[in-house]
Amino acid sequence: MKRPVAYLAGTGRGIPTKVMTNHDFAAIGIETDHDWIVERTGIVQRHIGRDDETTTSMAATAARAAMQRAGVTAGEIDAIVLSTATPDRLLPATAVDLQAELGATRAAAFDISAACTGWIYGMTVAEGLMASGVIETALVVSAEKMSAIVDWKDRSTCVLFGDGAGATVLKRAKKERDTHGILSAYMRSDGTLAELLWRPSGGAKVPYSQAVLDDRSTYVKMAGREVFKHAVRSMAEACDRALDAARLTGSDIDILIPHQANVRIIEATAKHANISMDKVYVNVDRYGNTSSASIPIALDEAIERGRVREGTTALFVAFGAGFTWGSMVARF
Ligand code: UT7
Repeated sequence: MKRPVAYLAGTGRGIPTKVMTNHDFAAIGIETDHDWIVERTGIVQRHIGRDDETTTSMAATAARAAMQRAGVTAGEIDAIVLSTATPDRLLPATAVDLQAELGATRAAAFDISAACTGWIYGMTVAEGLMASGVIETALVVSAEKMSAIVDWKDRSTCVLFGDGAGATVLKRAKKERDTHGILSAYMRSDGTLAELLWRPSGGAKVPYSQAVLDDRSTYVKMAGREVFKHAVRSMAEACDRALDAARLTGSDIDILIPHQANVRIIEATAKHANISMDKVYVNVDRYGNTSSASIPIALDEAIERGRVREGTTALFVAFGAGFTWGSMVARF
């Protein structure tokens, strides 16, 4: 396939207004401290959705902003690809709720379940649909209400996550701008490690296993240290693969926008890719880990702040439950 097939025409984000700082955990009985969280993760605060701020409503806010930036109406969207680990309900997909909400009457709509790597997976799938001639315009949305699935009694996980959504409009690349758009993409997974970061119950396999079914088995469980090691290794590998496929090196990259889980993982990834930290977009301090929404939220902010503009070459990289990991190089 000759790239670019697709370019990023617009971005948007949908963020709940309520902010929870590291100091607010004491009020809900969590024994932690601000310094520990900042030192281990870089997180200072996160946004938490109210009951009426759902995965669909955050997705819709992000989608409308992205469509406006791209100058695309709901009727022009051929496909809605929505990544989430927190669908509003298990059947049907959250993407069809978003399709109805937007009035995108011509759009095919489906969810992608690839945890924190969901935006990379979703963008790559949408690009593939464009390459095969099935669609011209796609809305790729990543929306996560992590506060609904974290265990608010487990300090090792509840301090890490936040809620939010990010959206990207993808359009068919223009012949006259044939160096702009997605230049490479890379996706991998390793299901043998699934139980290092997972929700034991909640699916159709009931009873899952008596050993794991306790009263909090619907919440996220994570072996943090193990996940950390795999994240560093896999994100480094993913950077290499996307750069190689685009025939670029770290020095050609204007901005690295990584999944925002932990500032230490981000620093290790940047170091491996030979990209200095002043070229890395970091907002984990303000949002925490918003799973697959973290990259499109960061991209939208980076565009708003002028750090991504016409001609910018960006490297995106993510890692998450599954395990899944992946990367993408795009020129704006
Ligand atoms: O989004 C995709 C994937 N997710 C990630 O990439 C997350 C990857 N993992 C991490 O970021 C880190 O492993 C964490 C931030 C989750 C944890 O950092 P760590 O340096 O690996 O700490 P740890 O889990 O080994 O815990 C160290 C200590 C423990 O105490 P002891 O046993 O040494 O006495 C924990 O009980 O820190 C304690 N601890 C806390 N202390 C204060 C754990 N959570 C907290 C907390 N506040 N919230």
